[in-house]
Amino acid sequence: MDAPLVMTQIDPHDREALRAWSTPSRAAFLTPAATDADLDDRLAEVGGHRLTAVHDVVDGGVGGEQRVVATLRTYDSELTLPGVDPVEVDLVSTATVLPTHRRRGLLSRMLTADLRRARHAGNVFAALIAAEAPIYGRFGFGPATHATSLAVENARVRFRPDAPVPAGSLEFVPAGRVEELSRVHDVTRRARPAGLLRDAAWWEAAGRRGAGRWVGPAGHVVLHRDEHGTADGYVAYDVVDEAVGRVPNGTVHVGDLAATNPAAYRALWEFVTSIDLVRTTRAKNRPVDELLPHLLTDPRAVQTGPVDDFLWLRVLDVPAALTARRYLGGGTLVLQVLDPLGLAEATVRLHVGDPGADGWACPEVTTTDAAPDVVLGVAELASVLLGGTSPVALHRAGRLDGTPAAALSLQTLMATPEQPWCPTWF
Ligand SMILES: CC(C)(COP(=O)(O)OP(=O)(O)OC[C@H]1O[C@@H](n2cnc3c(N)ncnc32)[C@H](O)[C@@H]1OP(=O)(O)O)[C@@H](O)C(=O)NCCC(=O)NCCS
Repeated sequence: MDAPLVMTQIDPHDREALRAWSTPSRAAFLTPAATDADLDDRLAEVGGHRLTAVHDVVDGGVGGEQRVVATLRTYDSELTLPGVDPVEVDLVSTATVLPTHRRRGLLSRMLTADLRRARHAGNVFAALIAAEAPIYGRFGFGPATHATSLAVENARVRFRPDAPVPAGSLEFVPAGRVEELSRVHDVTRRARPAGLLRDAAWWEAAGRRGAGRWVGPAGHVVLHRDEHGTADGYVAYDVVDEAVGRVPNGTVHVGDLAATNPAAYRALWEFVTSIDLVRTTRAKNRPVDELLPHLLTDPRAVQTGPVDDFLWLRVLDVPAALTARRYLGGGTLVLQVLDPLGLAEATVRLHVGDPGADGWACPEVTTTDAAPDVVLGVAELASVLLGGTSPVALHRAGRLDGTPAAALSLQTLMATPEQPWCPTWF
């Protein structure tokens, strides 16, 4: 008889346990084994994280040896919802199973155990970034944000005369100096739905530059200050020089650009698209409603695409999730939410009345046994909750039951001023 596959928790401070835990995750993600430097980075990063491992007994040529064959990492963070301060979220990462052990239910075992734990602990949301889109719908996750890539032809960039006029200054930021960058990010991540907390360990790692890091070896971080000297934006970028003969042909790769106001945003894009010897500026994981094309006399200087899903959300408590955000549009709907794992099934009446002075309204959410106006899966609820997916489109796709008018009412309720966007990998 096969030995049982045993699921345990790993001590995140135990270096050798972490080395064994990293082995299947790096194999599954097609990356080389962890070096000592990689392990140092991991130790600094995962101190407060929950590390799940599944062990198997393999022969290993020595007559039987415990090895980690599957991993899952989760940790508590903060997620910005529409119109309110951030709420707690269970972030799920490093979901890997060795190719020798795939499709035996190990991911299902690890992930459902963590979702039940998170639900029991009072978490309302879990979130992850999916390596492949078909994996997580069965666990009740739905794509809640999308992101796109940009390619800017620098020679065609001219700002419109009515674009916000930058004032202030720009400066290069030395490696390791991250306090002002983290303060800028903290403002911007609270301003748009789907922003995530970047904790001190995140910024500490970002401060160290090199291959595979936030800023690569040939890269730079440039900070913008307003006219009073207060940091209000930054851009982190790498540069590749692909000169043809003596003709310069550099490309700037923007890894992160954040600004707390449109003038700083314009200043940073103007800077990064006008660096000498650079012909093209590329950026990945940008919001689908990026402001830049609207600022230019030739919006086609910015080519956009492809657009892909980014943050996948899982609602663990339907009334609490609907109560947690604020709403712009009024209305009343009874929603019946179905859950493949049976964790969050609920029928609720969502009522949104008059908005406050800031334009946002608090909802009234009550459980009910009234007939539903809309029936939808918990994954579909997650997709529409931050305003990033159209309930009308889901209705037309057959993924949301109800009348077209009910789907439109849900769309009005869920609408947000800006598309949700998560600029943070985890
Ligand atoms: C993706 C991965 C974690 C799945 O682990 P696993 O233990 O094989 O998954 P399970 O056996 O629990 O699969 C559960 C269900 O999901 C399906 N599934 C799993 N991975 C899938 C994938 N990549 N695409 C489509 N379906 C998938 C399985 O077929 C199974 O369906 P069933 O219940 O209808 O039979 C594993 O294949 C892996 O490590 N892949 C490489 C790394 C990776 O992509 N990780 C995900 C990071 S977000």
